[in-house]
Amino acid sequence: MSFKNCIKNSVIFKKIFEYREISSTNDEAFRLARRVGVPFVVVAERQTEGRGRFNRIWYSPRGENLYFTLVIIHPELKFNELSILTSFVLLKTLQSYCRSLQVKWPNDIVHEGKKVCGILIENEVAGSMVRFSVIGAGINCFTDFSKIGELKDVAVSLKDLTAKKVLRERIFGEFLEKFEKNYMNWRSYRRQVLREWKKNMALMNTKIALRSGGATVTGWLKRVNDDGSIVLSDGSGRRLFTYGEIS
Ligand code: BTN
Repeated sequence: MSFKNCIKNSVIFKKIFEYREISSTNDEAFRLARRVGVPFVVVAERQTEGRGRFNRIWYSPRGENLYFTLVIIHPELKFNELSILTSFVLLKTLQSYCRSLQVKWPNDIVHEGKKVCGILIENEVAGSMVRFSVIGAGINCFTDFSKIGELKDVAVSLKDLTAKKVLRERIFGEFLEKFEKNYMNWRSYRRQVLREWKKNMALMNTKIALRSGGATVTGWLKRVNDDGSIVLSDGSGRRLFTYGEIS
């Protein structure tokens, strides 16, 4: 399988590094960026040390799913905007396979609470400067999670949600095309992206638990702000959060 064609029409990404097996496309992206410069794309058929947020393992068996990382410098976008943009573009790409997908704050793509796609964005910093960002995404395409005890309640694959043929190269190509379009026109698209992103937010006005900074807080998810932060409301008032994981 080759993903080379996916960058054929790309204006930003002229280099793609493909691996049959790699520890983690994010880790490899950091190594490569220091050697060859940015921007570029890394894709792997299998990850032996695929990582998720909060240092969790990202299940990455050979050939079943998509594991990729984009590396860019993005002076026009703030870090949280990059997260919003990426999850928005993944949402739109994957919604053409399953209309009812939603965003679970801050940037998961879910179907009825089960993860179809996860995003891990990391930065290389020098002092107070971000030298480049590493945007890793895993899209569950074919794995049958119903057979995997510890994941069956939390993950689901696109194949189980759609009648359409799932082709990993096509999904990746569609994602890259949309990503570039939105990224390059961010100033004019920003408003519209934010509106759509919020409209597709899961768990709004429901009671949630938020794990943030070592503590768990419960409350009603009342609002998502333009800067990507959320507002939780409980008996004692409203509180703003910029980081964490909700369930
Ligand atoms: C999460 O939901 O916790 C984020 C998961 C991110 C997984 C992807 S797979 C490609 C890239 N390489 C990694 O090691 N992680 C990301």
